[in-house]
Amino acid sequence: KTLHLICAARPNFMKIAPLYRALKNEAWCIPEIVHAGQHYEYKMSQAFFDDFRLPPAHHYLGGGSKTHAEQTAQTMIAYEKLCLEKRKPDLVVVVGDVNATLACSISAKKIHLPVAHLEAGLRSFDRTMPEEINRLVTDSISDYFWTPSKDADDNLKREGVPLDRIRMVGNIMIDTYCMMKEKIESSEKYKIFGLKKKEYIVLTLHRPVNVDVKEKLEGIIHKVGQIDLPIIFPVHPRTYKSLKAIHPLPQNLALCPPLGYIDFMSLVSNSAYVISDSGGIQEETTYLSIPCFTLRDTTERPVTVTVGSNQLISANNVLEKIKHPKTGAIPPLWDGKTSERIISSIKEILE
Ligand code: UD1
Repeated sequence: KTLHLICAARPNFMKIAPLYRALKNEAWCIPEIVHAGQHYEYKMSQAFFDDFRLPPAHHYLGGGSKTHAEQTAQTMIAYEKLCLEKRKPDLVVVVGDVNATLACSISAKKIHLPVAHLEAGLRSFDRTMPEEINRLVTDSISDYFWTPSKDADDNLKREGVPLDRIRMVGNIMIDTYCMMKEKIESSEKYKIFGLKKKEYIVLTLHRPVNVDVKEKLEGIIHKVGQIDLPIIFPVHPRTYKSLKAIHPLPQNLALCPPLGYIDFMSLVSNSAYVISDSGGIQEETTYLSIPCFTLRDTTERPVTVTVGSNQLISANNVLEKIKHPKTGAIPPLWDGKTSERIISSIKEILE
């Protein structure tokens, strides 16, 4: 049986890595990595393949930076072509909520291929987020739904997904962390930046709503500049476009290029706390009991707030909120065994 694991952007690579590794050990299947190329620079893509020791993608769909429609359309065309011209996979696995998740699930369904969505059911209920549209459309046509938490199951049930199609498998990102734990713990990246353990903050920003308008980004930067701790800020390429027009930058802010997985997780796990607008970092900090302050009005990962260490904040209240960090607990099935549960689900599907 051939399985396609679809990836395109940085947050996807860590989701397919533990699954690919686990599937590779199964005699009954051939997992193939399909890279749609939304992230293409070394630091945004190959660095993760290197860290996770993944082979080069079996299929590369082109990709690059384009408008949403162009990127989605181009990926749909390239993926349809791949499936029609080479052997069709027995199952298409799409992960997360990037444009390729949407594009490949549409192309696959139109040629009657079964689609499983890993990280199904998450909802921010904010349709101005491109990722929310990707999640809604993907879940409206997928056949199998692997969810990380009960809230995701509830969303899918409310949307009419039959119960026997939903399987709460837990959080695949925790498998990734467990797989890389030793290397993360032996990397002391913070020392290279001259930082002291638990005496610095990690900042990441890349959501269009926070970074595309210079004044909005400037407001955030100005506020975090007033925090009395050094801040290490790995800058996403999207953010860099607006950030380079902001002068002067606060003195407590140290910028660096995007980091690989091991270096980034090492910085996070030794930090006092994290300020971010990312999706995945809310989950990783929850698992590590590191306080996380998420600069967003909504989250599609509410369990990180209700159970975990995450709090939603705004640029206006960041200075007040950081006085009350929380560590929280780890949600059920975030245990490093999600790949195992997915494999048993795939076996049932393909039987
Ligand atoms: C995408 C995902 C988002 C995810 C994020 C993680 C969608 C809709 N959004 O957002 O869910 O959290 O990735 O990083 O799929 N760029 C480079 N080099 C690269 C990649 C991108 O310079 O290797 C530039 C592009 O030119 C573009 C900008 O970065 O202008 C944003 O990239 P894009 O992939 O379109 O969206 P993200 O903001 O990264």
